[in-house]
Amino acid sequence: MILKTLDDLLGEGVSGRRVLVRADLNVPFDKNAPQGVNAVISDDGRARAVLPTLIALRDAGARVIVMSHLGRPKGAPDPKYTLAPVATRLGELLGSPVVFAADTVGEDARAKAGALEDGQVLLLENLRFNEGETAKDDATRAAFAGELAALADFYVDDAFGAVHRKHASVYDVPVVLPHYAGGLVLREVDVLKKVTENPEQPYVVVLGGSKVSDKLAVIKALLPKVDKLLVGGGMCFTFLKAQGHEVGKSLLEDDMVGTCRDLLSEAQGRIVLPVDVVAATEFSADADSVTVPASEIPADRLGLDIGPESVALFAEAIGPAKTVFWNGPMGVFELAPFAAGTRGVAEAITKIDGFSVVGGGDSAAAVRTLGLDESAFGHISTGGGASLEYLEGKTLPGIEALEK
Ligand code: 3PG
Ligand code: MG
Repeated sequence: MILKTLDDLLGEGVSGRRVLVRADLNVPFDKNAPQGVNAVISDDGRARAVLPTLIALRDAGARVIVMSHLGRPKGAPDPKYTLAPVATRLGELLGSPVVFAADTVGEDARAKAGALEDGQVLLLENLRFNEGETAKDDATRAAFAGELAALADFYVDDAFGAVHRKHASVYDVPVVLPHYAGGLVLREVDVLKKVTENPEQPYVVVLGGSKVSDKLAVIKALLPKVDKLLVGGGMCFTFLKAQGHEVGKSLLEDDMVGTCRDLLSEAQGRIVLPVDVVAATEFSADADSVTVPASEIPADRLGLDIGPESVALFAEAIGPAKTVFWNGPMGVFELAPFAAGTRGVAEAITKIDGFSVVGGGDSAAAVRTLGLDESAFGHISTGGGASLEYLEGKTLPGIEALEK
């Protein structure tokens, strides 16, 4: 990778200079607590992951302007998606208050960016409150990027979770400002490169999450490289259907059944599906649930987790692996009765004598929410979509922009 890094920038000297840092502070919130300004962060892993960059800049006397998206608001301010609670948490993590701007490139942001003192940190409001951030039209994005760039002298991208987005703050700001890759981006790319180019065999990939269609490209890209591809989560039901089983009220992508059938035949036994399923009467923690063979899901029930025999089967495949990449929970782990599959598979991954990578927002959050030992994994990525697109071999716009 030919690009300049944060260390290069620190070497050039940043004291008194304004540095615009793109972070991915798109953290999950407790769904049972209020939303918006009083929201409660349920996993601050992404905020912690960018701390080293912020601390290095702060300690070098930079005036640090942090920007991020949160959720998917529609290009206009929406109080549900304010970054205000994240500013508070960031201040706690940094041990010094973070100034928060009520807009991104408006009067408040400009005034607060202008008033920053050396070593102070400012967080701008949600980038996606501006339609220019995600606009398909190049000129619209460039115009917004120009306003962002006007706030600072340098640009650092440490938002690995967003490098697959061709958005103004990721792709267009580095056209205007001298640009540098942060340590998180460098570390993530390093690890994924290792897993992509030269995975030590046996290589086992575990995929979960709800949709086959989201994972189709990565399944196709990985199939030739892996010894086993274990499929759990909501997406396993479309595969089970392709095997000829009825799946009751489980999540099903009807239009993908044919594709799954083709993948199964192409894989020649390397795709491993659950053999039992926890089937509930409804999507609720209080629902009546039973464990049934994957071939016998009752018509009036839906599968919400893989069963214990599947966990054992998956663990057996994972055991001898030298490399494991895991993306996507095995079941609805947020609800206690359906967490055992994800927990069991995660625990099996922690036990390998090899290198494991947890890819993604949801699986990374699952590791921490279920209280698993983070240090037992080789690497926990902050990027879900980003790590999958990297493994697919796609060009990531954020990395491309840094390399220019
Ligand atoms: C993520 O959650 O994967 C990143 O923060 C990117 O968010 P997005 O999928 O809404 O672009
Ligand atoms: Mg996401």
